[in-house]
Amino acid sequence: MIKFPNTRMQRLRSSVNLRRLIRETELTQNDLIQPLFIKHGKGVKQAITSMPGQFQLSLDYLEEEIQEISQLNIPGVILFGIPEHKNATGSSALDDNGIIQQAIRKIKTINKELLVISDMCFCEYTDHGHCGVLNQNNQLDNDATLELLAKQSISHAKAGADIIAPSGMMDGMVAAIRQGLDSAGFINTPILSYAVKYASSLYGPFREAAEGAPQFGDRKAYQMDFANSNEALREAALDVNEGADMLIVKPAVNYMDVIYRIKQAHPEIPLGAYHVSGEFAMIKAAAANGWIDEHKVALEILTSIKRAGADFILTYYAKEIAELLSKSENI
Ligand code: PBG
Ligand code: ZN
Repeated sequence: MIKFPNTRMQRLRSSVNLRRLIRETELTQNDLIQPLFIKHGKGVKQAITSMPGQFQLSLDYLEEEIQEISQLNIPGVILFGIPEHKNATGSSALDDNGIIQQAIRKIKTINKELLVISDMCFCEYTDHGHCGVLNQNNQLDNDATLELLAKQSISHAKAGADIIAPSGMMDGMVAAIRQGLDSAGFINTPILSYAVKYASSLYGPFREAAEGAPQFGDRKAYQMDFANSNEALREAALDVNEGADMLIVKPAVNYMDVIYRIKQAHPEIPLGAYHVSGEFAMIKAAAANGWIDEHKVALEILTSIKRAGADFILTYYAKEIAELLSKSENI
């Protein structure tokens, strides 16, 4: 005799409105940050081949782009710069008239409420493509880089950046930036630290977009080993102690366990997840072949990142998904 179940989970799945009523995780426009690549020059709207729908934009294209992002009710953007000149120390990153400093000022004239997050790193500005300055042995000089990071942060804050987001995985970067910002009077500028950034092969398309691939070696001596997650807890705790206001885990999908653990360990700290370029490119490529339903897959992935514990997501899908979310019949 079959014993029929007395608990029927399917009861609460039987209609769309019942499912809406009991949904535990909701993805909204409020959760999304759109990355933008700003290139020196004029009249540049250069498609990034490995990231369909994403472009390198020159300053004159910002008006159109920022209006669009604002209309979609996206709370903010994160900026990456492609400067005209690179050198060993990435000095154009510190220039008050550098590409990102100009972009920030421009964005603030278009929509001063839109959050501008400034990625704080040197790989787009150095000719060797590493995330800081090097010593005589061509290894990253962590402590010399800290001084430069503090200067870069002050310059970006002066230009009007709302949030400073160090992404280079330098030890002590949060403390150095906090000290720099405070000494320049920017006591209320928050730090969003890429506390847990893995040495991932999923950054490939970004390196095309930002023209910041390392010219020799790799980033394994400063970014985290993807085999580790206890170490991620230590990274997060250090950054929280140094005064990080918010944290990022990056990439996102392969690191859901890390997102979960960081959120459990620091529930009081807002947590972002970076759904990176390679993760974006894989969905786009499969969709272009007609193998998956792109928007359904993107929605599932981004919602799952939130379910794992992220409070917000930096994603190249921000514009597309914000648009989709504004049409409720698609949800
Ligand atoms: C720079 C930086 C990288 C990304 C964000 N900031 C690249 C890297 O570390 O090589 C990757 C983002 C992406 O792949 O979307 N430190
Ligand atoms: Zn870098």
